[in-house]
Order: sequence, then C-alpha cells, then structure tokens
Amino acid sequence: MEEILERVLLDEEQIKKRIRELGRDITEDYKNKDLLMIGVLKGAIVFFSDLIRAIDLPLTTDFIAVSSYGSSTKSSGIVRILKDLDEPVDGKDILIVEDIIDTGLTLHYLVDNIITRNPNSVKICCLLDKPERRLTDVDVDYVGFAIPDEFVVGYGLDYNERYRNLPNISVLRLEQGY
Ligand code: PRP
Ligand code: MN
Ligand code: MG
Repeated sequence: MEEILERVLLDEEQIKKRIRELGRDITEDYKNKDLLMIGVLKGAIVFFSDLIRAIDLPLTTDFIAVSSYGSSTKSSGIVRILKDLDEPVDGKDILIVEDIIDTGLTLHYLVDNIITRNPNSVKICCLLDKPERRLTDVDVDYVGFAIPDEFVVGYGLDYNERYRNLPNISVLRLEQGY
C-alpha cells in the first residue's frame, strides 16, 4: 500500500486563526469557573498545546488515553482506558479536548465515564468534526471545522502512528503499490 499526501485540507494559518477564536469563546464562557482541560491522548496533543495558550484564564490540565477494542469491534463502542486521569475531577468544570470526532464512540464513552466522577460540568471541544460518520449522538460544544469524510492526518492525527508532526491537516490517499 502506497501512501500519498494528496492535498492540504487546512493550512497552518487557518488552524491558528480558528484556535484564536475558540480560545476567545472559551475564555468568555469559563470566567469564574474551575476549568480543567482534559486532553485525549494521543491525537489531541498538538491541538491541546495550542488551544490552552489561546485561553486567557487560570486553568489546570490532565490527560487520558483510550483505545477501542480492535477495529472490528470499534462500532460496539467498547473503549478501554490505557492511562487514566491523574487527579479526581469532582467539582471541576471540564472541557474535553479532542482532535477529531468521527463515529462519536470514543467521546460518548468518555463523557459517560467522566460524568460518573461528579464534575460540576462537562463540555467538549473538538478541532475536527466528520458529521457524516456519526454512529452515536454526542453534543460537541466547540467545533473547529466540520470536514468531509476523507482520511486526514497531521497536526496530531496519525495513520499507523505516523504524520502526527505535520504542521497542517492533509488528506491521505492509500494506493495499491505496483
Ligand atoms: C482517533 C481520534 C479520536 C477518535 C475518533 O483516536 O484521535 O480520539 O479516533 O474516533 P471515533 O469518533 O470514531 O471514536 P485513535 O483511536 O486513532 O487514537 P490516537 O488518538 O492515539 O491516534
Ligand atoms: Mn484519539
Ligand atoms: Mg489514531
């Protein structure tokens, strides 16, 4: 299988500009709250690090790593926690930060799981949303960009763990080799 970076879908400037806007919205909405930003490893790392610097408020951070039980059962919505949060979240105003929402199964599980820990509130901020692929309802409170159903990599998003370091978001085409 040959991998070809077909085209840039979102360039660095577009991403930067949108993150400044999201940062302003979040800053406005979380005044006088106890904001805890939770990054979902690993895809969210790049977005997370830029987003927190666009928010002009005191805040704390934590990370959770999850994995679906194999690709064939992904649609079952069973998600396994590989690395849990370091601290309890009771009373916190949580903003879950994700790179992309696709079927919605990861975020659906995460929100349900985190709500059982008695936070004050839980909201979601997602850089990319592929609405066509949704299998379960998830309320996403802050969306960077809605995108078409194409395989994208870069800015934290991977294909077989590669391309996370691309500074832009690009469409990856997979082609049969000769
Ligand atoms: C990807 C992406 C989201 C999730 C979205 O993570 O980063 O977390 O899938 O898919 P869903 O809406 O269909 O659940 P992945 O499992 O590839 O792990 P990674 O973040 O470490 O790349
Ligand atoms: Mn992920
Ligand atoms: Mg991945």
